[in-house]
Amino acid sequence: MLRQLVSRLEKFTALDSVSDRLQEKVQAVARPERLRDVLHGTWLGHPLHPVLVQLPVGAFLSAGVLDALPGQRKAATTLICVGVASAAPAAAAGWVDWSSLSRDQRRVGLVHAAANAVALSLYVGSLAARFTGRQGWGRLLAYAGLSVAGSGAYLGGHLSFEQGAGMNVASPDKLRLPADWAEVGDIAELPENRPTVRTIDGVRVLLYRVGNDVTAMVEQCGHQGGPLGEGEVVGSGAEACVVCPWHGSTFRLTDGVAQHGPAAGDQPTLRTRVRDGVLSVATP
Ligand code: FES
Repeated sequence: MLRQLVSRLEKFTALDSVSDRLQEKVQAVARPERLRDVLHGTWLGHPLHPVLVQLPVGAFLSAGVLDALPGQRKAATTLICVGVASAAPAAAAGWVDWSSLSRDQRRVGLVHAAANAVALSLYVGSLAARFTGRQGWGRLLAYAGLSVAGSGAYLGGHLSFEQGAGMNVASPDKLRLPADWAEVGDIAELPENRPTVRTIDGVRVLLYRVGNDVTAMVEQCGHQGGPLGEGEVVGSGAEACVVCPWHGSTFRLTDGVAQHGPAAGDQPTLRTRVRDGVLSVATP
C-alpha cells in the first residue's frame, strides 16, 4: 500500500504549480554559482545533503532512546537542540538539489520536505514544553516528531534509490564499456575542437579531439542524463570543460572532474590511444 501511495504521489500533478513557483524562488535565492556548488557538494565529489542529514537524524534518534531511559532528560533535550540547529544547513542543501530535479522527483521531494518541516516544528514544540517544565508533553511531541521524520526519510530514500535523484546516472554506462581496447575509427575522421559522439557497445561516448590528443567520457550527463554531446565546450587545453545543456553541470574533459554542479560526482572518462591513425578507447 505504501508503494502504491508513493507511486501515486510521483504522478500527483496538482503539486506542480506550487512546485514550479518554489523552484523559481529557490533558484533565485541560490543564484550565486559558488553557493550552489557548495550546497550541491560539487567540491566534495558527493551530494552534500545526505551527509548533512546524518547530524539531525542521529541526534533525534538518540534523543528518542534517551527519553525512554530514566534520568536522561537533560541529555535528550541537548540532543534535540543539536538536531534542530543542524537541520537548517541540511535543509538548505536539500532545497538546492531539489530545484534541479525533474517534475516527478520534485513532487516526492516536496512532500519529503513538508514532512521534515512538520517534524522540525514538533521538535521545536518539544523544546518549548521541556523548557517550561512540561516534560511529558516534551517527550510526546519529540516522539511525534520522530514518527513524522521517519515518513520523510522513507520518501527521501524513495527519491534517491527508486527515482535516482542524487545518483550518478552515468555510472551504469561505464560498466557496459569495454575494459580492453575497442577501436573507434580513424582519428582523421574526428572533427577537431568540437564534441563528437560515437556509440561503443551500445553506450554513447563523447569524444573531443585537439590535434592527436583525444579525450573520451560517457556522453550521458551523470546528473540527470542530459546530452553532453550537445553541450558547449569552454576553456582550453587541460582545463577545457563541457557544459551540460540541461542544468549547466560542467565537467573537465581530461578527467571528468565536476567543476560546477548540480552534478556532485564526476563524469566517467575512458582511456584513449591512437595507433597507426586508429583511435581506441577502454575503461580505466
Ligand atoms: S542533466 Fe542536469 S546538469 Fe546535466
